Amino acid sequence: MKALEIADGIHSVGVRDWNVRDFHGYSTPYGTSYNAFLVVDEKIALIDTVKEEFTEQMLENISSVLDPKSIDLVISNHTEMDHSGAIPRLMHRIGEDKIVYCSKMGQKNLALHFGDRLRLESVENGATLSLGRRKLTFLETRMLHWPDSMFTYIEPENILFSSDGFGQHYAGYEVFDHEIEDDVMPHAKKYFANILLLYAAKVLKVLESVKKTGLDIRMICPDHGIFWKRDPGRILDAYARWSRQEPSAKAVVLYDTMWHSTEAMAETIAAGIHETGVAVRPMHLRRWHRSDVMTEVLDAAAVVVGSPTLNNGLFPTVADMLTYMKGLKPRNKVGAAFGSYGWSGESVRLVQSELEPLRWDWIEPGLRIQYRPDAKGRASCREFGRRIGQAVLALMNSEASAK
Ligand code: FEO
Repeated sequence: MKALEIADGIHSVGVRDWNVRDFHGYSTPYGTSYNAFLVVDEKIALIDTVKEEFTEQMLENISSVLDPKSIDLVISNHTEMDHSGAIPRLMHRIGEDKIVYCSKMGQKNLALHFGDRLRLESVENGATLSLGRRKLTFLETRMLHWPDSMFTYIEPENILFSSDGFGQHYAGYEVFDHEIEDDVMPHAKKYFANILLLYAAKVLKVLESVKKTGLDIRMICPDHGIFWKRDPGRILDAYARWSRQEPSAKAVVLYDTMWHSTEAMAETIAAGIHETGVAVRPMHLRRWHRSDVMTEVLDAAAVVVGSPTLNNGLFPTVADMLTYMKGLKPRNKVGAAFGSYGWSGESVRLVQSELEPLRWDWIEPGLRIQYRPDAKGRASCREFGRRIGQAVLALMNSEASAK
């Protein structure tokens, strides 16, 4: 990837990582990009960097615009190593006396990663820095999604460099939203569901404060994926909707199975849900990646979890999914648990107790069937599914009347 001028004097100098497929447990079938931005003014600034192993590519991109040694200052919006890993080698190249600006927590976190090699200077929320013709404003966005996270806003171009916010794990030759159209939204949704959902309440606060400050945002440039230029409001609106965790009339049935009995239950329960007019998707946890399941969970009104009992406990893939999902704290759901068992049959109780902190409305009691579901067992699965579907419709009605 060569440098690309995205606005007069502002160049995208990041890299594409076409082949990354696992991003700390998040599946990235389309790879990702690590975006960095070179601002050429009286002072030359680099906003964010890339993963350490891509340092040379980034420097080549910068070199296609100017000599990297002419960079005067670096801004680190976020310490995580996909954006800061290149900083030490970069500073070695451009001069270690140059300042790296970051948030107060960034100062602490960068030092914890790199020791005292960097000349760090922290900026307060709302602080500004003049580059000459342009002004940078720093906006603290703690816990979106690290304690050190911040955004950098540049005027007069009115571009928000939003770190991980509004990003997507997507590597492509498209640069702007209008080049990819609707195809970008599933990537943005997956990113939100897996990275930012836990901080949904904070996202709403940040969106509110951005609105209050009256920033005229004309482009949003995240550190992953495409830039929101034609319609930045689209991703701002989507973030508000996802953060409110508004349910859609849909259910996901996530499960694993040993000898196809829990699978038969899952499919029959799904058929019962479908009969009520609620959309439903069964998701076998050895066929679907946990991060794709999480994307479906984000706007589902019901999450139905099926696990066989294995060695008096949960099936391992189900335990993995529950641990992952519980950490991201999806709210405002109907929950239901089911499973086949041989003799002890603890799985249904364990599913519910594991997810108890999420405070979902559970369909009680969960459904357990010993060994294989016979005709009577299948009828009870179908009825269980219908009850779930009706609970979803009741939730949708109460949401509608609350508006
Ligand atoms: Fe893309 Fe939190 O790093």
